[in-house]
Amino acid sequence: MVSGRPEVVMETKRLLLRELQLADLDALAAILGDPIGMRYYPHPFRRAETRDWILRNQTRYAEDGHGLWAVVLKEAGQFVGDCGLTIQTVEGTPELEVGYHIERSHWRQGLATEAAMACRDHAFTRFGSDRLICISSPGNAASQGVAGKLGMTFEKNVVYKNLPQVIMSMSRPQGAVSS
Ligand SMILES: CC(C)(COP(=O)(O)OP(=O)(O)OC[C@H]1O[C@@H](n2cnc3c(N)ncnc32)[C@H](O)[C@@H]1OP(=O)(O)O)[C@@H](O)C(=O)NCCC(=O)NCCS
Repeated sequence: MVSGRPEVVMETKRLLLRELQLADLDALAAILGDPIGMRYYPHPFRRAETRDWILRNQTRYAEDGHGLWAVVLKEAGQFVGDCGLTIQTVEGTPELEVGYHIERSHWRQGLATEAAMACRDHAFTRFGSDRLICISSPGNAASQGVAGKLGMTFEKNVVYKNLPQVIMSMSRPQGAVSS
């Protein structure tokens, strides 16, 4: 963060991805606390859990150079979700995962795909990652639909954090340059 303004990490046609800040708490708590949006999670997040989520991602920015970032509609300046890159340990192996949550009234407009494509490209070019995964609940067709649009395919079923989960993955495309 520079002089109180959260850092913009990426820009797409319609979106800005910038670092999350505690000022996002109300908007993010509405998304992560939505019982319909969060039906594949053990429970919708309480406000304190969303606050911890923001703080955890701020730690990730500092330690890993990435995390889940705020997704903001460029023209309206409206916060509509999060999307980004986090390290998740799956069956003992650290993996780079792309994750996303979009506010329900904005579903099905391609926003998660647009944000996640920018994150995917960032993972392969900026971070030089060899691989990227997406972890989702078996019934979460929306999450798997986004992962499919990124170019991921089904890899395996696992138990992750004591829950059955689907791993979709992709390798770094040939020719993707890391810098
Ligand atoms: C997953 C999520 C982020 C998708 O956001 P979105 O902006 O609506 O996704 P997109 O518009 O980019 O959809 C991309 C594709 O995913 C699939 N998809 C999206 N929503 C879907 C749904 N409700 N049912 C079935 N497929 C769906 C479609 O293939 C879609 O492409 P299409 O619209 O051209 O058919 C959103 O549903 C969400 O926030 N869900 C709750 C949080 C969550 O489960 N996050 C993932 C955790 S693993």
